[in-house]
Amino acid sequence: MRKPGIIRSRSMRSARMGKRLASLALLGLAAAMPAPLDGLGGDPARGRAVVTRQSSTCTLCHAGPFPNPHLQGNIGPDLHGVGARLDAAGLRGQLVDPAAANPGTVMPSFYRTEGLRRVGPAWQGRPILTAQEIEDAVAYLATLRDPAP
Ligand code: HEC
Repeated sequence: MRKPGIIRSRSMRSARMGKRLASLALLGLAAAMPAPLDGLGGDPARGRAVVTRQSSTCTLCHAGPFPNPHLQGNIGPDLHGVGARLDAAGLRGQLVDPAAANPGTVMPSFYRTEGLRRVGPAWQGRPILTAQEIEDAVAYLATLRDPAP
């Protein structure tokens, strides 16, 4: 007969492993996309406008060095210092296809138009952000190098 203690410690170990895998995803092992979309350059000032405007929904889930701290969510990681954690390829990958790195993510794909479920008719075939807006957001996020105060 197996000792219950051994079984318990095994399942505890796999629970810990699961948590570790989940936090690896949270640490931003985004699927890297080195090539700028459509070869476009990004503008950090325009990117800040993209990231902080309510219609982009970023601040529903993310806090960061943005106006109105009381309106910022904590479903995703705080974006303070994200430019020091991820390079442009990682930032782009996270915005274009977050599910590539974390299949269970709740972060929407801001640029993918295929393989999505329950897309409203007005949005079919249209990404949430344009290629230029993605590149601008990447350029802005890359400037966020300071940790949360
Ligand atoms: C519905 C919630 C939600 C929305 C909306 C959202 N995100 Fe996220 N985001 C997350 C979660 C959760 C993660 C953690 C990694 C994962 O699950 O993909 C994440 C991860 C990130 C990361 C990597 C952070 C790190 O420290 O590694 C960046 C960068 C990011 N999001 C930027 C954005 C931007 C920019 C927008 C708006 C265009 C946005 N997110 C919208 C939930 C969201």
